[in-house]
Amino acid sequence: MKSGWFQKKIEQLSKLKGYQKPDKYSNALKLDSNENYAIDREFSLDLIKQTEENLDVREYPLSDTERLTESLSRYIKLPQEMIGVGNGSDQIIDLILTNFACKDTKILTSEPTFGFFEERCKLYSIPTIKIPFTNNMTLELEKFLSKIKKADILYLDSPNNPTGFQFSKNKLEQLIKEFNGLVIIDEAYVEFADYSIIDMTKKRDNLIVLRTLSKSFGLAGLRVGYLISNKKIASLFTKTIQYPYPLNTVAIETAILALQKSKQIYEICKLIKKERSRIIETLRSMGVFEVFDSKANFVLFNAPGSGLRIYKALIEQGIVVKNLGKMGRHDGCLRVTVGSEEMNSKFLLAIRDLLR
Ligand SMILES: Cc1ncc(COP(=O)(O)O)c(C=O)c1O
Repeated sequence: MKSGWFQKKIEQLSKLKGYQKPDKYSNALKLDSNENYAIDREFSLDLIKQTEENLDVREYPLSDTERLTESLSRYIKLPQEMIGVGNGSDQIIDLILTNFACKDTKILTSEPTFGFFEERCKLYSIPTIKIPFTNNMTLELEKFLSKIKKADILYLDSPNNPTGFQFSKNKLEQLIKEFNGLVIIDEAYVEFADYSIIDMTKKRDNLIVLRTLSKSFGLAGLRVGYLISNKKIASLFTKTIQYPYPLNTVAIETAILALQKSKQIYEICKLIKKERSRIIETLRSMGVFEVFDSKANFVLFNAPGSGLRIYKALIEQGIVVKNLGKMGRHDGCLRVTVGSEEMNSKFLLAIRDLLR
C-alpha cells in the first residue's frame, strides 16, 4: 500500500461540507425542517408510554422488525415481503448508494433535490446528472427522458424537497417505465401529495420506493424509514445489506402503535393540506412574493431582494424557516413548514407585520 493515501483521503473528505443540519433555537416556532407539529406532543408521548409494557431493552430486537413490517404491510396494503426498514430513510439511501452506486455509475436527478442525497453522492464520489427546475419551480419530463440513456440510477423525490413539486402520475409512470437502470422514488412526503406509485413495485424489478414515518406520522426523532420494492430486492436488502438490528426497540414498538392510528394521521394530513392552501393563498395575496404550488407539508416562496432580511427578522420574532437563498433566477427563497393552525397563523401575521 502506498504511503500517505490515508492522509490524502482525509484531506479530500475534509473539503466536503456534509449535510448541514438545521440550527437549534430554543423556544422557537420550528418551521424549518418539515416536521409535523400538527400532531399534539401528548399524542406522540402517549404512544411511547404505551410501549413500556412490551419493552425489554436488555434484549436485541430479534423478530420485532418483522412485526413492524407486518404493520407497515397493513398500512400500505402490499405484502410484508416487499418491505424493508431502516434507521430513517436517510440510512436506507446511504445503504442503497454504498451497495449499488460508485464512481462509474451516473445518477440522474433534479436540481435541487433532497440535500442529504446530494451530499452522500459527493461523499462517495458518485457523479450526478442534474435537471434544473424551471423558473416556476416545475420539472420537464422531456429533459429527463433525453438523459435516461446516459444514467444508471434515477433518484427523484416525489414530491420534491425543497420545491414541493410532484410530476403528474402519468408522467412519473412514463419516466419509471422508460428507465432501465435502478429507479429510486423517494416518497417521504407522499401522505400530503395526490398519489403514490408504490403499486408499480409489484411489476417492476428495478424500482425502490422510499418512505418515512418522520413526516406524516410526526416521528422524526424516532428515525423510522422503510423501502418498498419487489420481493427479491426487499429480501436482499433485509437479509444481506441492512444491519441486523437497524431500529431500536422503542422506535419499533412506537411505530407499530402509531401505524394503528393511521386514520387519525390521515385526518391530520388533510388538515395540513388545508393549511398549506391557506399559507399559499395568504402569501400570494400579499402581492410581493412568488409562491410556488406544493404537494408536500411545506411551501417554497421567493422574496425578491429580501429573503435573508425576512429570514433574520422572523428569527428575531422566534420563528425559524429554512433560508435557501438563490435558486435559479430567484434570489431570496424561503421554505416554510406547514405547522399547526396556530403556528401557521403566527407565521403569517409575522410576515404581514414585516411588510408594513
Ligand atoms: C425527500 C426526503 N427524503 C428523505 C428524508 C429523510 O427522512 P428520514 O427522517 O426518514 O431520514 C427527508 C427529510 O427531510 C426528505 O426531505
